[in-house]
Amino acid sequence: MREEALEEIILKTVDIPGFPPVAMKVLHLTDNDYSSLNELEEIIVSDQSFTSRLLRIANSPYYGRGKVIETVSTAIIFIGFSTMKKLVIAASLKDLHKKFGLLEQRLWEHSLGTSIAASLIATETQMAKPDEALIAGLIHDIGKTVLNNSIPESYTRVIERVYEEEVSFMEVEDDLLGFNHCSVGGLIARRWKLPESLEVVIKHHHTKAFPAFEGNSFEALCEVVKAADAICLNLGISLRRPLNIPFIEFEHLGLSEENFEKLQERVKKIYAEQRAQLLE
Ligand SMILES: [Fe+2]
Ligand SMILES: [Fe+2]
Repeated sequence: MREEALEEIILKTVDIPGFPPVAMKVLHLTDNDYSSLNELEEIIVSDQSFTSRLLRIANSPYYGRGKVIETVSTAIIFIGFSTMKKLVIAASLKDLHKKFGLLEQRLWEHSLGTSIAASLIATETQMAKPDEALIAGLIHDIGKTVLNNSIPESYTRVIERVYEEEVSFMEVEDDLLGFNHCSVGGLIARRWKLPESLEVVIKHHHTKAFPAFEGNSFEALCEVVKAADAICLNLGISLRRPLNIPFIEFEHLGLSEENFEKLQERVKKIYAEQRAQLLE
C-alpha cells in the first residue's frame, strides 16, 4: 500500500495529539554547554507542575545529597543535564496518556526500561550517542500510546491477543487494525517535526532489513533500540508474564556474553530505582 493511502486510513481512526510543548523544547537542547543548561532551567521553571515534580525527584532518596535542593538550577547541577532532560520527557510521555491505569503504566514502563537499556548499550558499544539513545528508547513506542488513547477498546484486544497467541504487537495490530504502531508512530514523528533520527527509530525499530539510509548513523541507533527493547522483554520489564523472547545478538553489538549479562543486571537495577521515583 502506498504510504499516503495508509496515512489516510490511520488518520480516519487515530487522533494525533500535540507534542507536549515543554518536551518539544527540551528535545531540541542538544549541547551540554552553559547556554543549554540555562535554557533547560528556563524551560522547566516556566512550567509550575514540572518544577515541583522535578524538585521532588531531585530530593528523593535516589538522588538525595543530604541537603535540600530548592532550585531547578541546583537540581540540574546535581542530577545532570541529560538526566534532567530525560525526566522532563518521561514525565511528558506519562502525561500524554488520557488515563493512567495498569495497561498505560505498563506501556510507560516499557519506554522507561528501553531508554535505560538503550543508553547503557550505546555507552558500552559506542554505536550511538548515549543521550540520543536514551531519548530514542523513551519515545520509540509512541505509536502504542497514541493508539491506546484513540481506540482503547481495540487496543486492549490487541494486547490480549499478544499474550494469548504469543505473537508480536506488529502482527496483531496489522491483523486487527490494518496498520501498526510503527506506521502510526512515523506519522506522529513527522507531525511533531521530531528529529529525523527519532523518526527513523520510531518507524523502523521492528524492521528486519533496513531500507537504505544513505550512510548515516540512524541504522546503528535503530539497532541499539531494538536490542534495548529485546532486553526489556528478556527481563520481563513491563510485562504481565514473560513472552516469547527474541534472540538478542549481543555479539553482533560487539558485546561479550559476560558484558552483556552485566549490562542486563545494570538495566534491572537502574530501572527499579527510576521507576519508583517517577511513578510517585
Ligand atoms: Fe515497538
Ligand atoms: Fe518497544
